[in-house]
Amino acid sequence: MTIKKSNRLVLGNWKMNGNILDNAILLNGLKNVDYSLHCDFGVLVPFPYLSQTLSILHGTKISWGAQNLSIHSSGAYTGEVSATMLKEFGCDLVLVGHSERRILYKETNSDIAKKAFAALSVGITPVVCFGETLDEFKAKQTFNIIENQVSSILELGCEIVSRMIFSYEPVWAIGSGSAASPEYVQDIHFFIRGMLDQIGASGIKILYGGSVKSSNAASFFVMPDIDGALVGNASLIIDDFLSITKL
Ligand code: 13P
Repeated sequence: MTIKKSNRLVLGNWKMNGNILDNAILLNGLKNVDYSLHCDFGVLVPFPYLSQTLSILHGTKISWGAQNLSIHSSGAYTGEVSATMLKEFGCDLVLVGHSERRILYKETNSDIAKKAFAALSVGITPVVCFGETLDEFKAKQTFNIIENQVSSILELGCEIVSRMIFSYEPVWAIGSGSAASPEYVQDIHFFIRGMLDQIGASGIKILYGGSVKSSNAASFFVMPDIDGALVGNASLIIDDFLSITKL
């Protein structure tokens, strides 16, 4: 993994998509990239495809990881996957607290902090996601919601938080085809950066996610506090994803 501090970071979240044949096309396609780029990139794949991802991307500068992990290290937790297991498949990264997990699987701020800690304990970088729902957005609750979600992670302290990546993903923009405006996202990122600054961890990357595509990505990347993107649908189309990494 080569995520440089100064580089932009573009991550593809495949969500629950893929099959062995299509993945091979996508992963091999990712390898055809110019490594002199100022952008680092990676993919977050479903658990069963970690082995395939490892075998295709091994030895490249591309990062990969999973979309969830257990708070436990081992034991009687049927259906769960530990951080140590992810490490065996070469994962550099793991998504934590994606809104689909917060909403559909009732993950709490406390679960998310534990998952982020579990990942870091084996040297995997957690990409911790935050974001308000449409109702919260309409009720002008965005800053309160973000403050609440982010504070519970900041309780882990500067030394730990400094090793994370954050991603702001307003739920109402995810999968909608309409991204939030870059100015709006910049304001939220600036707010998060201010919270990070209070514990001395303002240097970490803050990505934006929510209907990022090749046609709008550049408008986010020019913003001072947007360090990259977490891309869903467009990461499943090799040309779209590559063109975002090349901006
Ligand atoms: P879309 O890019 O499909 O809106 O998904 C965003 C997302 O949830 C990435 O984690």
